Amino acid sequence: MTELHPSAFYRDASGQLTVSGMPLAEIAAAHGSPLYVYSGDGIRQDYRRFASALEAVDGTVHFALKSNSALGVIAMLANEGAGADIVSGGELARALAAGVPPKKIVFSGVGKSADEIGAALDAGIGQINAESPQEVDAISQIAAARGVMAPVALRVNVDVAPETHEKISTGQRSTKFGVSISQNEAADLYRRMHADANISPAGLAVHIGSQILDLDPFERAYSALLHFGTSLREEGLPVPILDLGGGIGVDYENGTGTDFTAYGQLVARVFANSGFRLGFEPGRSIVANNGVLLTKVIYIKDGDNKRFVIVDAAMNDLLRPTLYEAHHAIQTIAPGGADIGPADIVGPICETGDYLGRDRMMPELGAGDGLAVMSAGAYGAVMASSYNTRPPAGEVMVLDGVCHVLRQQRTVESLLAEESVPDFS
Ligand SMILES: Cc1ncc(COP(=O)(O)O)c(C=O)c1O
Repeated sequence: MTELHPSAFYRDASGQLTVSGMPLAEIAAAHGSPLYVYSGDGIRQDYRRFASALEAVDGTVHFALKSNSALGVIAMLANEGAGADIVSGGELARALAAGVPPKKIVFSGVGKSADEIGAALDAGIGQINAESPQEVDAISQIAAARGVMAPVALRVNVDVAPETHEKISTGQRSTKFGVSISQNEAADLYRRMHADANISPAGLAVHIGSQILDLDPFERAYSALLHFGTSLREEGLPVPILDLGGGIGVDYENGTGTDFTAYGQLVARVFANSGFRLGFEPGRSIVANNGVLLTKVIYIKDGDNKRFVIVDAAMNDLLRPTLYEAHHAIQTIAPGGADIGPADIVGPICETGDYLGRDRMMPELGAGDGLAVMSAGAYGAVMASSYNTRPPAGEVMVLDGVCHVLRQQRTVESLLAEESVPDFS
């Protein structure tokens, strides 16, 4: 495999911002704005890097669809051998439509409905991660009605703080996730699963949060999981898999690819000779830095004490800055001039929270100029909405020198066509 540029998005010799050498200006001219552009080459390379960093352990990788569920992205990763980590019946349908083998699908999430559990059992997926006694009972009943055995892993809560943004922390007992391993709650439930005629216990799962940049919380969580799994095995219970979730953080400042080596070494060290099969659910670390949101300037407005760059993408296209105060670098797609001062890059939506970046040093800009909101490949398009009746941006992916349309921008007509008006006459 040829090594790509350290970042999938870089400037060519003339200063044009490109995706793997293809100018973003050309893509914007052909496909419009706003537009998500993914580097398929970069996603593929990062997936391969992840898989090879974990080669030393007996594990399977399930790409977390919640981070980017474009069918084209899932299908490309499935082609690389990836499975899918899903959190809804909708994502189940996506994984199946993209060609992920059912046995390579893991179903996570705290609130799976009866219909979703039924659909997962009908599809014959490999693993359902249950998060409560009530859910275990529901899965058992639904499996009994179908005359099948449900492969169920128990998501446990190991009470480890992941040291990330509060809204993406899932590892502490104060969150809604998992069953606590303290006070026998999880052990009792696992014993119950083992005794259940409709459940085949698949093991244990943990996921402590997302955008975790320090390895220490992973080490503490994995050690607790290993300890707990080992104690269940010592009782004679089958615990085939320890599913380690996702959560590896990325460099939003510079967009450089994540080095998975240290993570792989940590996993190998913690689980050396443990005899557990391992599962991984990376999302962000595979796609975040392999996508940008292209947008163009509509107006420049000089406020009392700041410049507002009003662009045609908004919080309905990329919610992360509004939801998490997340930082995305913003660059001009043409060779940029010298910075002339700070600006807020804002969308047209009627909310003060509708911004893509604040107080950014930017060059002189004018209407029609293209900008790229960097590192937007994860938790970007998947969170889009049609707020203000704005059709969410389309998505394209550049792979092996070809730009593929993954999703057309929706249209106002298609949004209105989903609705009906009662007859008031
Ligand atoms: C259960 C589970 N697995 C995997 C992931 C993916 O996490 P990340 O995108 O941080 O790798 C998430 C994200 O929240 C999750 O909830």
